[in-house]
Amino acid sequence: MPDPLSTEQVRRRYDDMAGNWRLLGISDTLLLINRLRRKHFSGALGDVLDVGCGTGENFEYLNRATTLTALDISSEMIAEARRRQRQLGADIRLLIGDAQELPFPQARFDTVISAFSSCTFPDYAAAFREMVRVTKPGGQVLLVEHGRSSVGWIARRQDRNIERVYERSGCRNNRDVAADLGAAGLEPATHIVSHLGMMNRITIEVAS
Ligand SMILES: C[S@@+](CC[C@H](N)C(=O)[O-])C[C@H]1O[C@@H](n2cnc3c(N)ncnc32)[C@H](O)[C@@H]1O
Repeated sequence: MPDPLSTEQVRRRYDDMAGNWRLLGISDTLLLINRLRRKHFSGALGDVLDVGCGTGENFEYLNRATTLTALDISSEMIAEARRRQRQLGADIRLLIGDAQELPFPQARFDTVISAFSSCTFPDYAAAFREMVRVTKPGGQVLLVEHGRSSVGWIARRQDRNIERVYERSGCRNNRDVAADLGAAGLEPATHIVSHLGMMNRITIEVAS
């Protein structure tokens, strides 16, 4: 694994990529990622927080939330998310902030969600612990994450390219998601793997 980038270095990369990020919506459709988002997030209820919201790709699936708050470290990503919010006509509180140190009191949200973001957090274990801290007892943390494939040749390719991918995007796309959660002392209630082992849908139940 390459040396970790700092939070500031990751922030700058996403500021630079924000303008083109929505082009990824095409791969969302082609790779059926939008279905994963719908399946995993459309049951998010109550006061909901989206951590590392990026350009707001999850927003349209969160229409059962009572309130929606979305946070990202990149002001340019938040600017794109604001455009998306206007398109959807949704009432969303958008904030610039750090997932590793969430600016919310304990037990503030019923459901915390995050998609394809913890791979970019330098201290991902701290961010996972923060997500649990701000979730109410009896609430849920719902994650859609990508990671190292269970198919040998794909995993080897991910390993070969990791330095370049990480340098460009700050994304550890060959990480072991279960091990990352374990490093934060968390055990998922459910963990569904798909897309040749690369996609992970995870539910963490926060103890009552
Ligand atoms: C790969 S993008 C995913 C965006 C979005 N969730 C999606 O599914 O399209 C990762 C996002 O995490 C954000 N991010 C990176 N480090 C962060 C941090 N420490 N705190 C909050 N957001 C962060 C980036 O700015 C970027 O918007």
